[in-house]
Amino acid sequence: MPLPLIRLAHPPGSTPALRGRLFWYDLARCESFREVDVLTHVAPSETGVVDRRQAIGAYRDNRARTKQLFEMLTPDAYYERPIPLRHPVVFYDGHIPAFAVNSFLKRGLGHPGVDSDLETLFARGIDPADKRAASASAIASWPSRDVVRRYAERADDAILSALESATIEGDGNAVLCRGQGVFTMLEHEEMHQETLLYMWHRFDPCFKRCPDGYEPVGTTEPGPTRREMVTVTPGRATLGAGMSQIRFGWDNEFPAHSIDVPAFSMDVHDVTNAEYREFVDAGGYDDAGCWSAPAWRRRQEAGRRHPLFWERRDGEWFWCGMFGPVPLPPAWPVYVTHDEATAFARWKGLRLPTEAEYHRAAFGTPDGSERAYPWGDEPPDATRGNFDFRFRDPVPVGSFPAGASAWGVHDLLGNGWEWTSTPFAGFPGFEVMASYPEYSADFFDGEHYVVKGGSPATARGLLRRSFRNWFRPHYPYAYATFRCAGDAR
Ligand code: AVJ
Ligand code: FE
Repeated sequence: MPLPLIRLAHPPGSTPALRGRLFWYDLARCESFREVDVLTHVAPSETGVVDRRQAIGAYRDNRARTKQLFEMLTPDAYYERPIPLRHPVVFYDGHIPAFAVNSFLKRGLGHPGVDSDLETLFARGIDPADKRAASASAIASWPSRDVVRRYAERADDAILSALESATIEGDGNAVLCRGQGVFTMLEHEEMHQETLLYMWHRFDPCFKRCPDGYEPVGTTEPGPTRREMVTVTPGRATLGAGMSQIRFGWDNEFPAHSIDVPAFSMDVHDVTNAEYREFVDAGGYDDAGCWSAPAWRRRQEAGRRHPLFWERRDGEWFWCGMFGPVPLPPAWPVYVTHDEATAFARWKGLRLPTEAEYHRAAFGTPDGSERAYPWGDEPPDATRGNFDFRFRDPVPVGSFPAGASAWGVHDLLGNGWEWTSTPFAGFPGFEVMASYPEYSADFFDGEHYVVKGGSPATARGLLRRSFRNWFRPHYPYAYATFRCAGDAR
């Protein structure tokens, strides 16, 4: 059954200043979408963590959004690799449904699968260290678009029918425990929607169809005139979560533990394009003293002279938007690598915050209590930040005062992932998860750093406090920004 795609011009709650830059209205909240989605024979889930109807709705909404993302590309983009270190577009079209089959149907339910060759071909993405490793894993011939689409339809049918009536939750199998397989499948697709968007970002606009009514405009609105920092008093920060505290979490989110965080200072706002430009203009990319030795070597190898999202034309700076360049918006958070962020911070005599400091600034309070979200315990909504695909672009820092933390720190959730100085590793007592054992442990190599928060392209469900993301320090493609921290005097 084809899913209707609905795009509203002005979602409720959008301010006039933010109109015109809207992405799409969240399908999950579209009543008319829901109407076609009513299922009559849905068995109750056995032990109660998974709501079958909700899981079916979420699976369909995810598939619909992914389909929209693929429709942003022209057909000749299908075998292109917009990011040389990653597979071509075709891989992701097959990977998302094949992953669902592998992790949920096969590992969880003992289902035979849909097509074992394709489920092997599409099993894993790659995160190679360099181009040589990437081409070593290149695949000579990918299946046709029709083959992949037909595979995806069969996989979707098998998954939806399992969600309707199979035993999808229970303690007979670790993948079924608390519905782990169902959530693994759903959140995996949501994460890849962000990956797809930042991959598409690298395509020349000639490979993309600009959506009706969207104009890449940017904004000349000036950013904050002065850097402002707050002091966060000493206290404890809880990292991670307990198994019973959250419906689902990835293995790297467990267990919960608390860390003593000494006093520190933190930027109220993310570093903006305008501020970062001062560093570029001051010759920061030529000053080895700002960079660690490995970062300097990587900067030279990549020949990087400015953030990947920037471009210089006729002496002016532009931001490379999804559908073309716009004059560099001074007030947007700058999107940079960990190496670039660290160099800027050094130049300012500051540093990146640790993961624990991020937690303390985002979820801690002066009275010592902790919150689920920076603003409190209410779930994320449109007033709290730039996330969940509402906008195609960043927005000026500080656009969502209702999303500020107890310390008055803005945009900790949304508008760009926040780099931390913490290398990605398991928490003490880490155990690999049954539904996807390679998810985190493969990256506990000291070569990835934790990012927290979320970007415009991060789904609402991934905004929980314990969610952790990670990238290599010189990975320039992600929607990742930063703010500086300092030792409190
Ligand atoms: C957690 C976002 C770093 O995109 O490489 C997707 C997520 N893992 N499929 C990535 C992931 C396997 C992962 N990140
Ligand atoms: Fe994946």
